[in-house]
Amino acid sequence: MHRRSFVLLGAAGLGSMISGCSDDEGFDLKNAPSGPIVLGFSQVGSESGWRLANTKSIQKAAEYNRIELKFDNAEGDQKRQIAAIQSYIDARVNVIAFSPVVESGWDEVLQRARAAGIPVVLTDRLIKTADESLYVSSIGADFVAEGNLAAAYLANDYSSGKNSVKVVEILGTPDSTPAKQRTQGFTETISKEKKLTVIDREAGNWTKAGGETAMRKLLRRNKDFDAVFAQNDEMGLGAAAVLADAGREPGSTSRIVTVDATKAGLQGLIDGKLNYVVECSPLIGELLMKAVVDLFYGGKVLRRISSEIVVFDKFSAATALPDRTY
Ligand code: AHR
Repeated sequence: MHRRSFVLLGAAGLGSMISGCSDDEGFDLKNAPSGPIVLGFSQVGSESGWRLANTKSIQKAAEYNRIELKFDNAEGDQKRQIAAIQSYIDARVNVIAFSPVVESGWDEVLQRARAAGIPVVLTDRLIKTADESLYVSSIGADFVAEGNLAAAYLANDYSSGKNSVKVVEILGTPDSTPAKQRTQGFTETISKEKKLTVIDREAGNWTKAGGETAMRKLLRRNKDFDAVFAQNDEMGLGAAAVLADAGREPGSTSRIVTVDATKAGLQGLIDGKLNYVVECSPLIGELLMKAVVDLFYGGKVLRRISSEIVVFDKFSAATALPDRTY
């Protein structure tokens, strides 16, 4: 039986103090809690290559760090994520982490986690709440910057030539953090570029099939556009297939920019179907386990832990592909 060892304080002290140690003193190994450390993790789904790599990264890192992982995949269902989080509260795990399918609707279950003294770490995505103390830390990529970079590529690419460049956008799941923030970043940068305009948007749910359906709808509504910003590789590759069928030469007549940089995305660049890919690394397992161990032993945990962003064109994709693990 492991001992539950967390004392939750106000927002500022969350996760930074356990009985027997303080911020100034650091770890107090004489009174250190005994393991195994138990982490309850609720994954959002298996909608993309990115997500599968993210799941693997978390499972491998837990194993490597000897952390007992209780894992549930909600397959895109918020109710199932809430039920998984509740089961981790009932099992009195040491830390709960989850990647929320949407931003709203988490307050009640997270209040129960707090009442049980279990710290919560958000991975990859964020939640919308008036009570920021419901989670101690969030780990993930800067989705706004990803949107900025996608737009900056198109602005550069069209800096000479055409006077007016029309862009359509294929979004991920509505109310999910990456969908909202990538649009925010993309729009911010586009609005500074006089000749670029986003003329239409459609949600594609992060999947290749969703990207295909979204692209078909966008094509029906708009005959005249120059570029597609698809918010992940799968949807971009789905869009490329539909554009090819419609005789629009993806990667040439219609430029396509995506986010993720999975193997399929890099291959899409090499094949000329995609023009530019902004990386969003799914490999955050080690960062999560470090936060879990720090929380368990009373070390400090940063409120925000960000992963790095790299960008790819067809040349850098060819260099990176052989070593890409996802
Ligand atoms: O939250 C990260 C996003 O979720 C990835 O970009 C997308 O592929 C995924 O499924």
